[in-house]
Amino acid sequence: MKVLLIGSGGREHALAWKIAQSPLLDQLYAAPGNPGIAEHATLVELNVEDHAAVIAFAKEKAIDFVVVGPEAPLVAGLADDLRAAGIATFGPSKAAAQLEGSKGFTKDLCARYDIPTGAYQRFKSAEPAKQYVREQGAPIVIKADGLAAGKGVTVAMSEAEALAAIDDCFDGAFGAAGAEVVVEAFLDGEEASFFCLSDGKTALALATAQDHKRVGDGDTGPNTGGMGAYSPAPVMTPAMVERTMKEIIEPTISGMAKDGNPFSGVFFAGLMITAKGPELIEYNVRFGDPECQVLMMRLKSDLLPILYATATGTLDKVQAEWRDDAALTVVLASKGYPGAYQKNTPIAHVPTASEEAKVFHAGTALKDGKLVATGGRVLNVTAFGKNVTEAQARAYALADRVEWANGFCRRDIGWQAIAREKA
Ligand code: AMP
Ligand code: GLY
Repeated sequence: MKVLLIGSGGREHALAWKIAQSPLLDQLYAAPGNPGIAEHATLVELNVEDHAAVIAFAKEKAIDFVVVGPEAPLVAGLADDLRAAGIATFGPSKAAAQLEGSKGFTKDLCARYDIPTGAYQRFKSAEPAKQYVREQGAPIVIKADGLAAGKGVTVAMSEAEALAAIDDCFDGAFGAAGAEVVVEAFLDGEEASFFCLSDGKTALALATAQDHKRVGDGDTGPNTGGMGAYSPAPVMTPAMVERTMKEIIEPTISGMAKDGNPFSGVFFAGLMITAKGPELIEYNVRFGDPECQVLMMRLKSDLLPILYATATGTLDKVQAEWRDDAALTVVLASKGYPGAYQKNTPIAHVPTASEEAKVFHAGTALKDGKLVATGGRVLNVTAFGKNVTEAQARAYALADRVEWANGFCRRDIGWQAIAREKA
């Protein structure tokens, strides 16, 4: 099989690494890819926003299967256009990608199909939103409706903070994504991420993970795209996974199909495990980054036939096997991230992988043959262990061998799980 992978982050490096191990693979291309992905794939300079160019490339190279990593091309309808051109594609249609592209869309779906989530209202202007906040009181959550790179959410502990967040959204802090606002009840509990594939009819549960969104140790400071993650998430017991499938995932699959938007791809469900059970915080319609890195480390099965079955409606024919080990990833980011940071700083040394640990590339590039950091999140040092404590020790041992003066990482990824393991 000839495969084209779309994307350039740590998530796509992990996907490329796994796909490259498949005996079914003849050739892997990645657009645009990064120097880590280049170890497994031929990189192609394609403008992913130019769907006709992607299709022309796929035809020219006789690509059998396209795997779309990030959300933006999905929300822009790349999967629809590829499928219309007769090319099998992993990733939901533009209509189904609204599950990630519009928080209001997802909340309305939950309301229609009795999927547990926080009570909410949608607003197109500030005054009625503020009125609702005053009625409900704090804590309360304010969300820009559209894609805001994980930054459009304010968990407001006071009414004043909530009112300010509403003004920020409507004043354009998140651009067009903030033209509509969802105000949502605060859910109290422990968060977890759940990954599950769907071909539109059948569901295949993958695995669970927990990430660290805040930039600083102890989960402090501003939100980021994710500073580290581990899998499995201890709060997601088999009973909780079963409830999540029954109460959240299955009604989503049947509801989306009923509404004429069958979902094919991966559900990345952000959950709050409350006293009542699992409640949906949000859906993403692609693998998490860096959650994907820990999932791919733990996946024993060949990834390629699983993704292909998802895209071609044969998910009932495949299974996914997982290592029992925990996997943990630490994100090395450019100093200053998630604020302004220097670009093109030199990375003098990236240690080679071992049996238990591996470094995935995210925002890296080669400049004059030398590796440099071009993004906010740059390297993902990922390791196994018999538990999170051991995986963490291995990941930091490897991270400390990276030579990159402008890099930093959190030192406490996995702390909740490790506290549990010590208890
Ligand atoms: P999201 O971008 O929707 O994942 O939200 C970012 C983060 O905000 C989540 O990971 C939660 O930590 C928090 N959050 C979002 N919605 C709620 C909610 N209804 N109650 C409590 N926390 C929330
Ligand atoms: N790590 C969170 C995300 O991929 O959205």
